[in-house]
Amino acid sequence: MFQPNLLGNRVALITGGGTGICRGIALAFARHGCDVAITSRKLEHLEPTRDELRALGVRVVARAADVRDPAAVNDAVAAVVSELGRLDILINGAAGNFICLAENLSPNGFGTVVDIDLKGTFNASRAALPHLKARGGSVINISATLPYLGTMGQAHASAAKAGVDSLTRTLAVEWGPYGIRVNGIAPGPIEGTEGVRRLTNEKSREVALRLCPLRRLGTVDDIANASLYLASDAASYVNGVTLVVDGGLWLRSARILGEE
Ligand code: HXC
Repeated sequence: MFQPNLLGNRVALITGGGTGICRGIALAFARHGCDVAITSRKLEHLEPTRDELRALGVRVVARAADVRDPAAVNDAVAAVVSELGRLDILINGAAGNFICLAENLSPNGFGTVVDIDLKGTFNASRAALPHLKARGGSVINISATLPYLGTMGQAHASAAKAGVDSLTRTLAVEWGPYGIRVNGIAPGPIEGTEGVRRLTNEKSREVALRLCPLRRLGTVDDIANASLYLASDAASYVNGVTLVVDGGLWLRSARILGEE
């Protein structure tokens, strides 16, 4: 679909890069000539993807780092720059989620998801900033369409992702003068991911398929292709947007999923 080597000679750091959507982004970036660093809370979540990336012939760093821990994130960024020489692209993909009605959610449950999704995005962006400033760069925050409507059982994740979208706009304005573009991607339900396994059931999946104007769930490649676009020079004048990649689903989701 794209010309080869859209990201040649660049280095990307992808938090949550071992699995799901972010694994797909890592592999797509590597196929376009990008050296890739991936982080996750646990090294064992990274090892299979690290090996797949190496098999594509790029240089790879895999580091355990919890995005909730600013010191660990700083160390991971320092390791990326020391081993791969530079940092051009940051993908903030690490996320936590589960379904729980607000009335049953503990303060720590709410805070845990905000800490991972929102504060983790800030921590990694802040750690990456000095290196991105060196040549200009691109930050992509993985968001969600959850906050656009009142999504039941998602008070924690919706609040966190709404905060992520706000951060995307503010950092786009503050960091644009450094030649750093900050954008987001809001995926719909993506086939085969942990998020969809945890958050959907047979019924909600069937409703999503029926409501989605394109009559399918998304694929990891759909999100990887959007990331390639936003990270590359093809999007050199795109700054501060969150690109919805959901086949138009949320526009038809005013009816509550599961109640049809
Ligand atoms: C209610 C829960 C809960 C659940 C955890 N908690 N799971 N509350 N229902 N199912 C509460 C705990 O009781 C605890 O509060 C607090 O959250 C922290 O839990 P821990 O297990 O100690 O935290 P931790 O191990 O740090 O992380 C928990 C986690 C994480 C955030 C749930 O394991 C996780 O998210 N894993 C899934 C990763 C994932 O699927 N990522 C993709 C997200 S998809 P108390 O008060 O008891 O101490 C996505 C896109 C959505 O975001 C869009 C899809 C359409």
